[in-house]
Amino acid sequence: MKNLIVANWKMNPNSQKEAKEIFNAIREGVRGLSAEVVVCPPFVYLAGLKGLTLGAQNIFYREGGALTSGVSGAMLKDLGVEYATIGHSESRRYLKETDEIVNLKTKEAFKYGLKVIFCVGETVEERDAGKKNEVLERQLKIGLAGIENLENINIAYEPVWAIGTGNNCSIEETKESIDFIRKFVKPATRILYGGSVKSENSGAYIKDAGANGLLVGGASLNPEEFIKIIKSID
Ligand code: PGA
Repeated sequence: MKNLIVANWKMNPNSQKEAKEIFNAIREGVRGLSAEVVVCPPFVYLAGLKGLTLGAQNIFYREGGALTSGVSGAMLKDLGVEYATIGHSESRRYLKETDEIVNLKTKEAFKYGLKVIFCVGETVEERDAGKKNEVLERQLKIGLAGIENLENINIAYEPVWAIGTGNNCSIEETKESIDFIRKFVKPATRILYGGSVKSENSGAYIKDAGANGLLVGGASLNPEEFIKIIKSID
């Protein structure tokens, strides 16, 4: 299976001009590389970026109508967006997304033929309390309840304590979590690692931890570094 490398720009950059510059530099840099590359910019930039596969950072779980601030699967599909990131820990935390909401969003994405990057991961408190597997199991069981076509799901294992901290998860611990997650998905389901990925640590997640891709936040806003990450696993 092809490795999947996802750029998660979060709420960056501050202008459309910068977004285009970063995007175009990535587009040129990944030519000829074998990984599948997806860029998830903020919604407002999606329409202006062309030439690489696009993903949304979220989706709302209704078809349309009276829902101020919502963005529907139909709108994303119409823009040519192919992926939707769902259940990112920042959306769980700041937008108060529960496992049940994550489940509704995943089903909604599938209704429109979007592929899903489904994020799971434990907080530092949950890890310290020895509850990591319990949390992952709950997030997967409730979040994926009633979903048959798990082939179109990509699970991103992102320990919350590793996101944006520079404190990336060790290869051994990542491997353990990936092996655990595999019990709940299909053999064809890709499992990604995310959390302070940079070019010095990226290769080992694929080669030694058994990940089928990476979800890259901060480093994906620096095209040179992001391209290095992609090359490290080529
Ligand atoms: P980070 O973010 O690479 O900046 O840690 C990863 C993510 O949140 O997807």
